[in-house]
Amino acid sequence: MTRPVGAVTRGTTGHNRLRRSDRWVAAVHGRLLRATPRPLVVDLGYGASPTTTLELFDRLRRVAPAVEVVGVEIDPVRVAVAKPYEREGLSFRLGGFELPVPRPPTLVRAFNVLRQYGESEAWHYWDVLTGKLAPGGVLVEGTSSENGRRAVWVGLSPEGPRTITFAARFDAFERPSDLADRLPKTLIHRNVPGERIHAFLSDFDHAWAVSAPYGVHGRRQRWLAAVRFLALTWPVSARPPLGGPARWRLGELTLPWSAVGPR
Ligand SMILES: C[S@@+](CC[C@H](N)C(=O)[O-])C[C@H]1O[C@@H](n2cnc3c(N)ncnc32)[C@H](O)[C@@H]1O
Repeated sequence: MTRPVGAVTRGTTGHNRLRRSDRWVAAVHGRLLRATPRPLVVDLGYGASPTTTLELFDRLRRVAPAVEVVGVEIDPVRVAVAKPYEREGLSFRLGGFELPVPRPPTLVRAFNVLRQYGESEAWHYWDVLTGKLAPGGVLVEGTSSENGRRAVWVGLSPEGPRTITFAARFDAFERPSDLADRLPKTLIHRNVPGERIHAFLSDFDHAWAVSAPYGVHGRRQRWLAAVRFLALTWPVSARPPLGGPARWRLGELTLPWSAVGPR
């Protein structure tokens, strides 16, 4: 076997850390996984324990019973820790960005992995990973807080980044721009005046501020009002599966990558 591509990094992970993105993947890409014969999902860089891979497997099997999940980790010790958890449809293997899997995956999830690389590497590995997808496949690349209460992720197709999603528990932020600390590596250094991501987060804070009166009905109602206000000036996804009240009430908001990507 050739050397896995990438570097061993911190293995921090935890129960339900990625619940918000799991439920988004199930809702948004469940249909794709059901429509694909023998759909393969890769969880790249699952960390010191395979918890989030097991959770992804359970959640995806509920919406796509034929799905197979492979956890790929670059640290052999972490692969050995995960092996006893293998079962029908779920396996773990040593590897890196080269993705040592038997056929092109329909979906690759990489969470809290690329943040530990440099910005130019993050752009490069987006290309590498999307280049390995099955036709019509998706890469979901994101970052979350340690307890998963704040997260931001990007949905990419083989053609490049398509969507960006912000997700938070309602008591996990003062203002929406607090989620800036979870921006993907490709955006985090762009959150400065003159860049669209900065303008978006500033407008989101403004929408949150003017929606304060809805707070008497709770922070969920305030979030819903803020998202509607924001949708007057930003191309917020407003229809299922990406958007609309059913998603917004979970503390989510998705918009096209092109609205916030670097100039
Ligand atoms: C911070 S942990 C994230 C664990 C889990 N995905 C989560 O979000 O809770 C990052 C893991 O990615 C692994 N990793 C880093 N680069 C990798 C690569 N190129 N291929 C596979 N695993 C990688 C590290 O060894 C580490 O275990």
